[in-house]
Amino acid sequence: MDAATRRVRDGTRLNQLIVVRLAADALSDETRSRAADGVVAYSGVCTHTGCDVTDWNAPAQHFKCPCHESEYDPGDAARVVSGPAPWQLAALPLKVVDGLLAVRATFVGKVGFAQPGSPSGE
Ligand code: FES
Repeated sequence: MDAATRRVRDGTRLNQLIVVRLAADALSDETRSRAADGVVAYSGVCTHTGCDVTDWNAPAQHFKCPCHESEYDPGDAARVVSGPAPWQLAALPLKVVDGLLAVRATFVGKVGFAQPGSPSGE
């Protein structure tokens, strides 16, 4: 939602999320503070050039971008662990309300991507 106009922007790719449940001992303190029952949510748009982050490196428990193979650690604030991505995925703090996941706060970090001529990707 645009904070100034209150207009819901439901047609943008930047609304895409990736959600995963991890073991409690796999979460850093920072990530645990944003998780709900071990479930964490992040922007699903790679910060490199904006591909959808759709792959999963199961042995490492990392999100992986199929375009240039950047990997993000969802247990540690989605920090970049390999590849050309310039910054971590934005995190969406969650909570549980009546047994259902809900958003607790706005994104932490920058949603979007870097690309030539547009440092914000917007
Ligand atoms: S767009 Fe994801 S690594 Fe390049």
